[in-house]
Amino acid sequence: ATMDQLFGMQQNERRLAENFGIARCIIVSGDSDQQKKVVEEFGRLLDEALHNCLPDGKNIIAVMGGTTMARAARQLTNLKSAKRQNLFVPARGGIGEAVNLQANSVSAEMAARSNGDFRTLFVPEQLSAVTYDSLLKEPSIVDVLDLINQANCVVHSIGRALHMAARRKMTEEEILMLKKKNAVAESFGYFFDEDGKIVYKIPRVGLQLKDIRSIPYIFAVAGGKSKAKAIRAYLKNAPQQTWLITDEAASNEILKGV
Ligand code: F6P
Repeated sequence: ATMDQLFGMQQNERRLAENFGIARCIIVSGDSDQQKKVVEEFGRLLDEALHNCLPDGKNIIAVMGGTTMARAARQLTNLKSAKRQNLFVPARGGIGEAVNLQANSVSAEMAARSNGDFRTLFVPEQLSAVTYDSLLKEPSIVDVLDLINQANCVVHSIGRALHMAARRKMTEEEILMLKKKNAVAESFGYFFDEDGKIVYKIPRVGLQLKDIRSIPYIFAVAGGKSKAKAIRAYLKNAPQQTWLITDEAASNEILKGV
């Protein structure tokens, strides 16, 4: 990239952060829809941000799943020091992804790369309400849920609503409902319309969006031209401490609409 392009990107980083009232925005050049390398760069920047932001002491980092998270996770490097320990946990359980894309897998991968620890939350996908309720009383699950509730950092992605509904094999009725409510974005198992209003929530354990608002370190990692609309919708109501790591393609598209 030329100096002019770099300068332009820095301006866009500022414009995006200011426009949506979030703490910071970092833009990687390129389009992650087209270039896998861009997602690696997201991971590298996430690693850098965690290095610089995570305080000494015991950190609990709650992570989400998906392809962006799974790929970015591989870029983490040692985050442990004599003073700092990090425990990775899945942010929410059983919201429907292939095993290698699940939050459990991402948290294990991040822990392995960064010399941290991890805990797994075993909540099957298809459960009756009764089984679900009794599962929530299981000591091994209660333990992990307690840790999740103490998280001081969250790392998540943002997806397109209908794409995510299909990937999670949600029912025809649910998909119809999401269409009716004009859902465009998904994050944490919540669906948002263009104004960033929650229109639906997958009822699952773990972090809830209202809890996330009080967590000091939040990193949202999402890019690609195809996700611009989703990212914009999510940002409308994103917690103000959020850092967004995105790419040029998404940010150019988002800024067209502001
Ligand atoms: O299902 C977990 C999740 O993080 C969703 O909240 C998000 O919409 C999606 O994955 C993003 O997936 P991808 O990185 O594959 O686009």
